Amino acid sequence: MSSDAVTFRLARASDAPAMSVMTRALIEAGLPARYSAARVARLIASADHTTLVADSPTGVRAFAVMMFGDERAHLVLLCVEPELQRQGIGRALVDWLVLSAQVAGVASIHLELRADNVPAYAFYRALGFSETLLVPGYYEGRIAARRMIRILRVQAASPG
Ligand SMILES: CC(C)(COP(=O)(O)OP(=O)(O)OC[C@H]1O[C@@H](n2cnc3c(N)ncnc32)[C@H](O)[C@@H]1OP(=O)(O)O)[C@@H](O)C(=O)NCCC(=O)NCCS
Repeated sequence: MSSDAVTFRLARASDAPAMSVMTRALIEAGLPARYSAARVARLIASADHTTLVADSPTGVRAFAVMMFGDERAHLVLLCVEPELQRQGIGRALVDWLVLSAQVAGVASIHLELRADNVPAYAFYRALGFSETLLVPGYYEGRIAARRMIRILRVQAASPG
């Protein structure tokens, strides 16, 4: 299947079960499930979060969730179905959210990913994120996390 067959839109509550299953399979493998369908539905409904999906006639194929604060945004979840990876869908989802953050005046975007997720690390580097910290045992005391940041604007120093 080609990426031409997907369309991008804001998520609906009815997308939550499919997004929960994808998170379990593609992000949480080997870890306890933290993103139940109910929790994902709360993220979709949250005024502080923006949730985008790429869907096809067969359902959700990719999605991204970002939390927006005044100064900082946090990329909470990002998944592209394996069959559709390396076709620019992940980049399109993140670009949409980055543009939204820029328009909202956000200064920086933050994320954590499993240190063993080499493809995602390459992806975020390609999209202009830089590693700030390695946090040993971040996931269940067993798996390290990398923290990454993308600066959107330099914050003015507060007057001394
Ligand atoms: C990480 C992920 C979201 C990337 O989505 P994608 O749609 O495949 O990525 P794109 O096609 O937009 O890739 C953009 C660029 O990122 C880099 N990239 C993406 N996947 C890569 C990989 N497996 N290895 C090396 N570089 C990669 C490349 O530079 C790529 O550009 P190119 O294809 O022109 O070389 C996807 O692999 C995924 O869902 N993985 C499983 C879940 C996950 O790890 N989520 C993120 C951590 S929470």
